[in-house]
Amino acid sequence: MAESFRAGLISGTGEEGLGIALRLAAAGHTLALGSRSAERARQKALEINQQLGEEKIQGMDNHELVASCEMLFLTVPFIHAEKVIGEYQQDFSEDQILVDVTVPMVFDKGPRLLELGGKSGAEHLQSLLPEGPTVVGAFKTLSSHSLCDIDSPLDCDEFVCSDSPPAKERVLEVVSQIPSLRWIDAGPLRYSRSLEAITLLEIGLNRRYKVKGSRVQVVGL
Ligand SMILES: NC(=O)c1ccc[n+]([C@@H]2O[C@H](COP(=O)([O-])OP(=O)(O)OC[C@H]3O[C@@H](n4cnc5c(N)ncnc54)[C@H](OP(=O)(O)O)[C@@H]3O)[C@@H](O)[C@H]2O)c1
Repeated sequence: MAESFRAGLISGTGEEGLGIALRLAAAGHTLALGSRSAERARQKALEINQQLGEEKIQGMDNHELVASCEMLFLTVPFIHAEKVIGEYQQDFSEDQILVDVTVPMVFDKGPRLLELGGKSGAEHLQSLLPEGPTVVGAFKTLSSHSLCDIDSPLDCDEFVCSDSPPAKERVLEVVSQIPSLRWIDAGPLRYSRSLEAITLLEIGLNRRYKVKGSRVQVVGL
């Protein structure tokens, strides 16, 4: 029987997926890293394991990953998310969780949110999955630059939202192991729209202030 994992990243081979994988593995998790190409996934997993000095990540094809993980982080560009979900739909099960990291944006003289009938990207993806998995939005406002800079502690807040409190709890059990990052319960999935807008704001701030990792900290909680 194939090995099973608590968490894995669908096409986690981009900068954001690799940053999340790096932080979760450094926090002690054993993870699966997926790709459309098993070879690319294995190569990226090898690089992270070498960086960490221990074997925490296993690279594999996305199909194998979806079949072997309880929690699936979706780390593809939003414009491809619908196609990717369609491709692996047969492999999903209703008790899995899909952690949506995507931000529904395009670049048109700067970043702009896609219009999805007033819905967040996360709600849009949940509507494509009426029989599960349950969608939880997380990591949307944390840049790959901050995640990949492993020598710098994550001195900021990050947000989790879902219409399922138990699913949110299960994700928090995993992600809250990352040292110093404070997780905030941002409420139901519809609040993802606000988080997705914050990411655009951060991209604008990065450009205006010529930095790479502007991030958010909420006071007063
Ligand atoms: N970058 C950031 O700072 C940041 C911050 C917050 C949220 N996010 C969100 O995180 C997600 C990933 O961002 P990223 O910058 O890591 O993206 P990316 O590097 O452009 O792409 C991530 C992965 O998606 C897969 N992919 C690319 N084109 C595809 C296609 N046409 N069809 C299917 N899969 C495709 C590739 O994996 P394989 O070819 O290996 O399958 C690629 O490595 C995005 O939705 C983004 O909005 C990013």
